[in-house]
Formats: sequence, structure tokens, C-alpha cells
Amino acid sequence: MVGLPARGKTYISQKVCRYLNWLGITTKVFNVGNYRRQLHGANLPHSFFDPHNSAGENQRQEAAQAALDDMLNWLLHGDGMVALYDATNSTHKRRRWLHDTLTAQGIQVLFIESICQDESLVLANVRDVKLSSPDYQHMDPQLAALDFSARIDHYKEQYETITEQEYTYVKLINVGSQNIINRIQGYLESRIVYYVLNLHIQPRKIYFSRHGESQFNVLGKIGGDSALSEQGQRYAAQLPTLVQTHLGPDRQLTVWTSTMKRTIQTAEGLQYPKLQWKALDELDAGVCDGMTYEEIEEQYPEDYANRDEDKFNYRYRGGESYRDVVLRLEPIIMELERHENILVIGHQAILRCIYAYFMNYSQEDMPYIKIPLHTLIELTPKAYGCEEKRYKVDIDAVDTHRPKPTVETKKPKSSKLAIQIDSPSIASSPSTSVTSSPTGSKVPVGASGEIVRDFMSPIVPISPGFPPKDTKRT
Ligand code: SIN
Repeated sequence: MVGLPARGKTYISQKVCRYLNWLGITTKVFNVGNYRRQLHGANLPHSFFDPHNSAGENQRQEAAQAALDDMLNWLLHGDGMVALYDATNSTHKRRRWLHDTLTAQGIQVLFIESICQDESLVLANVRDVKLSSPDYQHMDPQLAALDFSARIDHYKEQYETITEQEYTYVKLINVGSQNIINRIQGYLESRIVYYVLNLHIQPRKIYFSRHGESQFNVLGKIGGDSALSEQGQRYAAQLPTLVQTHLGPDRQLTVWTSTMKRTIQTAEGLQYPKLQWKALDELDAGVCDGMTYEEIEEQYPEDYANRDEDKFNYRYRGGESYRDVVLRLEPIIMELERHENILVIGHQAILRCIYAYFMNYSQEDMPYIKIPLHTLIELTPKAYGCEEKRYKVDIDAVDTHRPKPTVETKKPKSSKLAIQIDSPSIASSPSTSVTSSPTGSKVPVGASGEIVRDFMSPIVPISPGFPPKDTKRT
């Protein structure tokens, strides 16, 4: 990161980190301010940041070095793939030090500079975020604001915007009013740049609702394209008032649905612009579509056990895994970032994935997030996360949540069915070999119904030099 204090560097770092981790790219933020606080304490006066204060300068360099050492260690010897070095990095000299140290280790460097000339935005950021930082705990807010503005002035004295044409960088000027990109190479860098170009900081609300209870929900069947049950229709009828009450009158909103009957019917009474997305269709349960969990357990016992073993990576025979769904939802996340108020009327697995992105859930926990029927979820994005409210409507609906199995409740799985682990080439090959399941049914091996843990996301370059380390991931 590059930029004066209070220019949204930490906000951008945290967002990029959440986005990449959600996509399965192990990412971490190294915040130099945290290292400085650990090494030299919080509550340091602005004079500590004065470039003419050589003792302060040395201590700041010490914090910068400690953060960089940890970052290198994590990238080279840990499981890190992308690291964000969150600091001002506001001089040519500092950037050269970073660039040279990192490239010497075979690490690609992308600088993200945030420039904001709108003083009112900077002041709002100082007021909303900086004054509650550990640096100003127990300090009078007015004195804290004065001290922070003096700190910014010290940085301004030496600030040099990026002009180094040989570096890869993106410059974000006045929150999207102008952007400059330089020497962006490769898919991952392009994705990160595209993502940061789509971020905005307008206040807004994001709503999620599952479709009203469907006829398949009542029968305990998964998938399908059934219509709403009677209770589901009642929920759909109440949804417009519920949304309007919490959004406020005369507020703009766009409603997104999948292409399936139950979400479209749920959206029917909403008087807002609507958009259907194929990408929002429910996780494809393949051959199990239309079955109950009991039927799946009986007919595909190994699959059932595999799903309990690793629900995120389990891919339905002829269908999808949560991992597959995350990748297909990536354009939806990008659009959600670009837009203001949105209501997504979706399906259980789909909303779990989108909710996990905003609320920072791990891939392991994602498939077990509770998204009950007949409940409106409201997220309000804040500086470093989202505030959440849930509005439950008093209309009965079946509970479709299956809790995460404990060790005792997991069913032993047959050893006859091959489970492909960490083997993307095998897992994705359309094998047609067949083996017998304990129930005697012929089941294809290799194409689906398995745990498919591709450690490599399709957006990470698969080259011998990446990740640039003695990787543990074999
Ligand atoms: C800090 O100490 O808060 C940040 C140090 C820097 O990035 O200049």
C-alpha cells in the first residue's frame, strides 16, 4: 500500500484480503502500525512521526523491518500466497527498499496507492476510524483529531506519489474519480486491480433473503425448481413491507434473483428494478437433485459420508461443490461491490457463500452458516466489516439447516470409492471408470461425488515459480 494516513489503505487491504481468502488464495495483511504499537507502545505524540525526529525515524524503520521480516517468512516458509504490506510507504526510498527486498526473493510486487484530495472525506475517515484506534484511546477526541492532523502534515512534508515507471502499480485518485494503472501483468494482478477499481465507500445496505418456503422444502427434497408453498407465498406477500420498513421510503434498491421459480415468485410483489442472474441459481446437486437427504444416504452412502467429511470440497456426482459455487459467484461479488442498495433473493448455499464473503467466514464453516427461511438479513458495510441485523417474519417454515456433524455422528465411508485429494488433474478429468458401491449400484469414479480439494484456485498462476518457496503444499 502507498498513501498518506487516513486515505483508506487499511480499508482497501482488508477488503482485498477478504476477497482473496474467499477465493481460496491464502492472504494476510501486515500492518506496520500494529508492529509500531507492539514495539514502541501506543499513545505516541505526532512528533514521533516528524521526519526530523531521528529517534522516531529509527523506531519506525524498526517496526517496518519487523513487519517485512514476518511477511517474508510467511510468504517464503508459511502458507502465504498474497500479502498486503499496510503502511504509508510514501517515499521513493521506502518503496525501493520494499521492491528490491521482495523481488530478490522472487516475489511479485504490486503497489496500490490511494490518493484523496477531498478534505471532507479525510476528516470523516479520521473521525469515524482513526479516533477510535488504540493510538488515541482515552484521549479527548478534539485533541486526538488535532494530533492526527499534525501527524498527517509530517507525512505530507516528505510524501512522493508513485512516479516509478518501472514498478507495477495502481493509483486510486479521489475514490474512483480517476485511476492510473501501470505495468499490470498476469491474471492475479489484473483481478486485484479490477477488484480495487470497483470498490466504493458510499453508505448502503445489502439485504439477503432466501426464497419463501418452497414445495420441495416441505417435502424435504433438495434442488429442483418447485414453486412456493402456501407459507412461502405468505412470506413473499409480506416481504415488500418488511424491506420498505427497514430500507426507508423513497430509497433506491435493486432486487436480484436467480432464474429459478421460487426466487422469482418471492420477488414478485417488490416494486423495485429486478435482475435475474443465472449465477445465483442454487448449488447443482447433480444426480441427487430432487432427493431427500435420507434417499441420498441410502442410495449414495459414500457420497453422503464424503459430504459430511468435507462439505466445502465435496462435489455432487454430476453437480457442484461449494468451492465450485464460490468461483461462479465471483462476478456477483464484484457487482455487489460496485452497486449501492441491493436485495439478493437467493438460495441457501448461494447466500451462505455470499454472506461468508461479507462476514469473513472460513471455507470450512461456510457450508454450515445459518440462513433460515422467512428471514431478511441486513448488512451495513462499515470501515472494517459489516454490521448485521436479522428480521424474522412470523410465518412458519421448515428448517433446512443440517448442523456440522461431530466426530461421533459422522458415518464411516466405504473404502471402495476412491477419494481424490489434492489432485486437480485427476479430479477434473472426465473419468468413466466404474466401481461397485456397497449397495451394489454402479457408480462412476473420478468425475464427481468426491472430495475435490484443488489447492490451486483457477485465478492463481500455476507456474513452477509460484508460490516462490519451498512449498509445503504438494
Ligand atoms: C504507523 O506507524 O502507524 C504507520 C507507519 C507508516 O506506515 O508510516
